[in-house]
Amino acid sequence: MNYRHAYHAGNHADVFKHLVLSRLIALMSRKEQPFAYLDTHAGIGLYDLRGDQASRTGEFLEGIARLWQADDLPALTADYMGLVRDMNPDGELRYYPGSPEVARRLTRAQDRVQLNEKHPQDGLLLKDNMKGDRRVAVHLGEGWHVPRALLPVPEKRAIMLIDPPFEQLDEMQRCAKALKEAVGRMRQTVAAIWYPVKDQRALKRFYQDLAGSGAPKLLRVELLVHPVDTPNSLNGSGLAIANPPWGLEEELLELLPWLAEKLGQSKGSWQMDWLIAE
Ligand SMILES: C[S@@+](CC[C@H](N)C(=O)[O-])C[C@H]1O[C@@H](n2cnc3c(N)ncnc32)[C@H](O)[C@@H]1O
Repeated sequence: MNYRHAYHAGNHADVFKHLVLSRLIALMSRKEQPFAYLDTHAGIGLYDLRGDQASRTGEFLEGIARLWQADDLPALTADYMGLVRDMNPDGELRYYPGSPEVARRLTRAQDRVQLNEKHPQDGLLLKDNMKGDRRVAVHLGEGWHVPRALLPVPEKRAIMLIDPPFEQLDEMQRCAKALKEAVGRMRQTVAAIWYPVKDQRALKRFYQDLAGSGAPKLLRVELLVHPVDTPNSLNGSGLAIANPPWGLEEELLELLPWLAEKLGQSKGSWQMDWLIAE
C-alpha cells in the first residue's frame, strides 16, 4: 500500500468527487428520515495543503485553488465551498476536507457516518481527525468487505463511496463486484464509484462490468481536464452512481459545463449518460 492521498488532496478529481458527494448528501437530506454514509477507502479525512506531500505536487493549485479564487461560483457549490471556507476562517486556503470530513460536516444529527481505511497509520490519523463526533465510526479493515459487513443498514437509506487508489490491476473489477454486492444486499443503496480516466481499454471493460452489476439504475459522469486520448496522464475522472437521488442529473447538467471550464487544463470537457437506465 504505497498510495498516499495527501499528494493529490484538492486536485481536480477531488473537487469533482467531493462536489458531487455534497449534492448527493443534500438531495438525500430532503427527507427527514436518517441515512448512513459508508466510505470504503476513506483516507485520513483532513489535509494540510501547505504540508510536505501536498505542496510537493501542487496538484491543488489546479483544483480547489481555482474554485477558491472564482467570483462566479454557482449556487449548487454553496455547501461544498461553505465547508472549505469554514475550515479556512482566516481567508487563506490551507486545509482541505477528505470525503470523511465532507460527509461528517454535511450530514445531520440523525445520520451516521461509517468510515473504513486499511492503511494502519492513515487509519489512526483518520480516527484522530474524526474524534469527538459520536455519529462517526472508524473501521481499520479491508475496504472490499464493507458492503458485506455494513449493508443492509437499519436506516434502509445509504450513500456508499467506493474510492480505491487504483494501484492494483484488479481494482476496477473489484469496484464492479463491490457494487454488485452492495445492491444485492440493499437494492436502493446510492453507491458512487470514483475512477480515473486514463486507460481507455481498461475503461471499456470496466463499463461492461458495471453495466452487468445488477444496479437498478447507474449514471456515468465524467469530468476531463485533457483530451481523453492524451498519453500517460490523468485526463480526468469519473463517478458511476447507482440509484442517484431524483434531481441529481439536472443539477449536474447545470454544474458540469461550469466545472469543466473552471478546471480544464489543456482542454476541459464533460459527459454524462446512463450505463443502466430504468
Ligand atoms: C483515493 S484514497 C481515498 C480518498 C478519500 N476517499 C477522499 O475522497 O478523501 C484511497 C485510500 O484507500 C486506502 N486503501 C488502499 N487499499 C485499501 C483497501 N484494500 N481497503 C481499504 N482502504 C484501502 C489508501 O490507504 C487510501 O487512503
